[in-house]
Amino acid sequence: MKIYLDNAATSFPKPKKVSEAVYDFMTNNGTSSGRGAYQKAMESDFIVYECRKLIGELFNFNNPKNVIFTSNVTESINMVLRGMLKENDHVITSSLEHNAVWRTLKTLEKEKNIEISKVKCDQHGFTKPEDVKALINNNTKLIIFTGASNVIGTIQPIEEIGKIARENKIPFVVDGAQLCGAYPVDVKKDNIDILTFTGHKSLLGPMGTGGFIINCDYNIDPIKSGGTGGDSAYEYQVDYYPNKLETGTLNVSGICGLREAIKYLKKEKIENIYEKEKSLTEYALKSLSQVQNIEIYGPKDSEKITPVISFNIKNKRAEEVAHTLDNKYDIMVRAGLHCAPCAHEIIGTKEIGTLRVSMGYFTEKEHIDKLVYALNNL
Ligand SMILES: Cc1ncc(COP(=O)(O)O)c(C=O)c1O
Repeated sequence: MKIYLDNAATSFPKPKKVSEAVYDFMTNNGTSSGRGAYQKAMESDFIVYECRKLIGELFNFNNPKNVIFTSNVTESINMVLRGMLKENDHVITSSLEHNAVWRTLKTLEKEKNIEISKVKCDQHGFTKPEDVKALINNNTKLIIFTGASNVIGTIQPIEEIGKIARENKIPFVVDGAQLCGAYPVDVKKDNIDILTFTGHKSLLGPMGTGGFIINCDYNIDPIKSGGTGGDSAYEYQVDYYPNKLETGTLNVSGICGLREAIKYLKKEKIENIYEKEKSLTEYALKSLSQVQNIEIYGPKDSEKITPVISFNIKNKRAEEVAHTLDNKYDIMVRAGLHCAPCAHEIIGTKEIGTLRVSMGYFTEKEHIDKLVYALNNL
């Protein structure tokens, strides 16, 4: 039996109904949404609409038109940052960002001369909301934070940062890649203006799906233009959601799978998923701490992290260990920087990277036991 412990990269397996829904759509429908008036096309419209509605509900948001579909969270983040930031704007971000945020900001620094302030955090990835407040100036036009680190799992104080952003009338954007589906997120309670998500991680949907929820009136300029299926004689991109930001044929087969995944999550309940993954994380932290010569990074507290644990084994290269785990023990884990070099600056592993195990809803304690056995017998 192969053991998959790389759910922070993408979740596997998916609920059976998700792949069945994609297959069924591709076999029995296959039409584009928002473009035709025939029966099958209207079924496609309904699938897309219902998925927007279900996603909204999952995050306590009730305006499906403001749920925008993209191909992944990276695209969502690019669209939001590029659509909102102007020449010389100041932006505040965390010290733990994935390259989806960090590279986009660095590119905008070059292209639009934006100014980036990184909020410091401690070696466990904890950020103090007051440190965000201290960085705000008259020119601050956006705050973007990852919901949780994809390297050490540390959950960020989103609600408090959102409150500060609201008090200062600054748009607050959350990279929900590691949070959505694994942790209860409520855009209203958590003061989130724009929640970006990816469909293929803890939301348990297919790759190629993602999006963002616009819970505010701040303007987002479209970075793409093209066909939207309506107002075709108008020569510019339309100004209403979702069409303003969704152009070109949607990934309806993927969205159909995502719709099924969200139904599954609602049935299982995010709170139950969170509790199961939290207890697995607690078990994994306890078990891994018994491994000889291990150094675990980040908070060793399952209440403070998503199910992601980074570590190294003394005097062994992370890549080598990952290779042995795969080849000798059929255990899949990730080694390296995990597309988030900033987080490695915080834990001091930018040169060597880490091994990362990440659990999902279908991980079992037995998988952790096998990992621990393998690590003790490398
Ligand atoms: C925190 C974070 N942001 C963004 C991404 C990018 O996700 P995607 O590849 O689905 O765009 C990831 C994926 O690892 C992530 O962990």
